[in-house]
Amino acid sequence: MLRRALKVTPVGSQTYSKSASYLSGPHTPYFMDHGRGSHVWDIDGNEYIDFILGLGPVTVGYDNPEVNEAISRQLKKGITFSQATSLEVELAEKLVDIIPCAEMVRFVKNGGDATTAAVRLSRAYTGRDMVAVCGYHGMHDWYIGSTVLNRGVPKSVQNLTKTFDYNDISSLEKLFGKYPGKFAAVILEPTQGDPPKDNFLGKVKSLCRKNGAVLIFDEVVSGFRVALGGAQEYYKVTPDLAAIGKGMGNGLPISAVAGKKDILKLIEDGIFISTTFGGEALSLAGSMKTIEILERPGSFPHIWKVSSKLADGSMNLVKSKGLGDIISMFGLPPHSGLIFKSAGKLASLDLLAVYQQKLLMSGILTVGINNFCLATTMKDVDMHLDAVDQALDDIRVAIERDSIRGIVEGKRITPIFKRN
Ligand SMILES: Cc1ncc(COP(=O)(O)O)c(C=O)c1O
Repeated sequence: MLRRALKVTPVGSQTYSKSASYLSGPHTPYFMDHGRGSHVWDIDGNEYIDFILGLGPVTVGYDNPEVNEAISRQLKKGITFSQATSLEVELAEKLVDIIPCAEMVRFVKNGGDATTAAVRLSRAYTGRDMVAVCGYHGMHDWYIGSTVLNRGVPKSVQNLTKTFDYNDISSLEKLFGKYPGKFAAVILEPTQGDPPKDNFLGKVKSLCRKNGAVLIFDEVVSGFRVALGGAQEYYKVTPDLAAIGKGMGNGLPISAVAGKKDILKLIEDGIFISTTFGGEALSLAGSMKTIEILERPGSFPHIWKVSSKLADGSMNLVKSKGLGDIISMFGLPPHSGLIFKSAGKLASLDLLAVYQQKLLMSGILTVGINNFCLATTMKDVDMHLDAVDQALDDIRVAIERDSIRGIVEGKRITPIFKRN
């Protein structure tokens, strides 16, 4: 299937990080057939416990009867209509209720649509052009032009976006100092590898206020994953706008820009945020049900319980095997995983390849950073920890030999885009 795919679709997949270059070796399942709960089956019938969960969207679990029922009920009524539906109103009301910054909401499809909408609104609101970014914000020109993957983006667009570093408030101060009165917006992923230190998010907000820039939280990953209202609820810092996506629809394609009414209202003045499928009803119906399930009292405690067990258990293993200098933990438990430094001649990607291969051989599907859903069980986590135990032994051997030869079969991971 991979051979066929590579002939007809670039990289053989629609998403770089779901393509062959992101998982290493012959044990990699490149094509999935179906999922149930927290498990997936590839087209050869191999079963995996999925800790990627579609790169974040699956928050309740695959093939969830309640979400399925909500989608099927809507399917019988229609998918895309010629006018709005009451579902749009109901879901927008729900988001206004649960997301601290949300006074109004506009639905789009991908996370990148939502971040792009937020940036355009900020530019219109402030009458300025420049944007400060911190994290990954999708495929659109204004963001990807600021990365090494900037080919195809006009230089004039690239020059409008500047990057700053998480937990380094002076890097943002410097940008505001260098380009006074120029920044329309500061957009950042509110939670990244390390937790915010020394009131970092509060300081970013104050700097935005002082300099007249809109503060946008990119909650495409953190929304519906660290807390129902996202990182802004968890860290109690409310931005002006937020981009949400991924986890709100248990896998359905839906995202939104949410935030202050006076900014969102610009859409009524023709600040153009408008798509054919923004009101597509299957995703809205599935998202309503997904959020209803995530709102139940036990839901987020469960996500935190299983994820903390894996995060703590993995770090205990790392320490017990004397690998604490090379391996550390990324992120808050609900979106967390081991990250590797280079060691001797081995690059961090070499160590990740060793790790990933052993996990795949043990039936654990992960890219390193893990996601969790309501269907993830303690047994899933125990099996994951057993595999981590074995994988860390392989890593020790690789470090001792200063080589992955004979340990990693097939090709090493060669990601096109790497976040950190
Ligand atoms: C933080 C963040 N923002 C934006 C995006 C872009 O979302 P999408 O791929 O749905 O356009 C992603 C995707 O991984 C993301 O992780």
